[in-house]
Amino acid sequence: MDHDPWRETDGVYDDSGMAWSLRSVGPHLHPGSEEATVALAARAAQYGLKSGGRILEIASALGAPARFVARRFSSTVICVDRDPRMHRALQAAAAVEELSLRCLSVRALTEHLPLRDGCMDGAWSQDAMCHMDKPAVVQECARVLRPGAVFAFSDWIARTELSTAELAMLADLWSFPSLLTISEYVLLLDSAGFDVLVAEDRTTASSSGAAVAPPDQAAWEASFTARFGDEAVERNRLRTDAWRGLVVAGRGGFGMFIARRRG
Ligand SMILES: C[S@@+](CC[C@H](N)C(=O)[O-])C[C@H]1O[C@@H](n2cnc3c(N)ncnc32)[C@H](O)[C@@H]1O
Repeated sequence: MDHDPWRETDGVYDDSGMAWSLRSVGPHLHPGSEEATVALAARAAQYGLKSGGRILEIASALGAPARFVARRFSSTVICVDRDPRMHRALQAAAAVEELSLRCLSVRALTEHLPLRDGCMDGAWSQDAMCHMDKPAVVQECARVLRPGAVFAFSDWIARTELSTAELAMLADLWSFPSLLTISEYVLLLDSAGFDVLVAEDRTTASSSGAAVAPPDQAAWEASFTARFGDEAVERNRLRTDAWRGLVVAGRGGFGMFIARRRG
């Protein structure tokens, strides 16, 4: 199946998709929300992500992780995302926190980074490479990182070989061109010139959020339906339930990786 990385992700990040996701995870737009950002930063620091330099973020979206990383590592974050709406939101939030000069927006495809070789001191990504051509993105990260720099990321993973039907469902509902297993990621990182320091299945930790519906759930669903219509409710619910089904069946999940650029 052809994957056009500029193509919008079939409603995953349209207005209704964003409202649906923001409701469940907030502006840290990934499973585990802000807690997962804090956990990844702690592991990255432990494995040598240095403070004070330039950190590339692969798919910065609304910029909540970028602002956290900028502060946590006293760094400048180069925020790459293809979506201009995401950059507008990122810049507005950065301005409120006086971080405009340390969260720099670059509108580009992560498969073709408009950055010089070896100019980055670290790289960061949370739960976005699932949408991308992963070999191309990992190659580009290897190219722009200086030797010794750390690349810390989390992503949605396959935990078993997925069937053709499951892969087609993920492409259709989630706009994932592929999902890698932990060992496929390890091979990919190694062959692109990284030493892999952490490659961890985080499915249990990332999926154990509160299962209790919040007190305003019925009112929120009614207002969501009034804004976006029944079809949007169905599409978002179908997408969420389809992924949850894969996780419950032990076939899909979440991984955390820390790798160091060799050389
Ligand atoms: C799940 S969101 C990222 C969430 C963000 N990392 C966070 O934790 O808050 C996915 C983002 O990837 C961006 N994206 C998807 N494919 C891309 C590509 N090939 N190049 C650049 N950005 C891409 C989308 O525009 C979207 O903002």
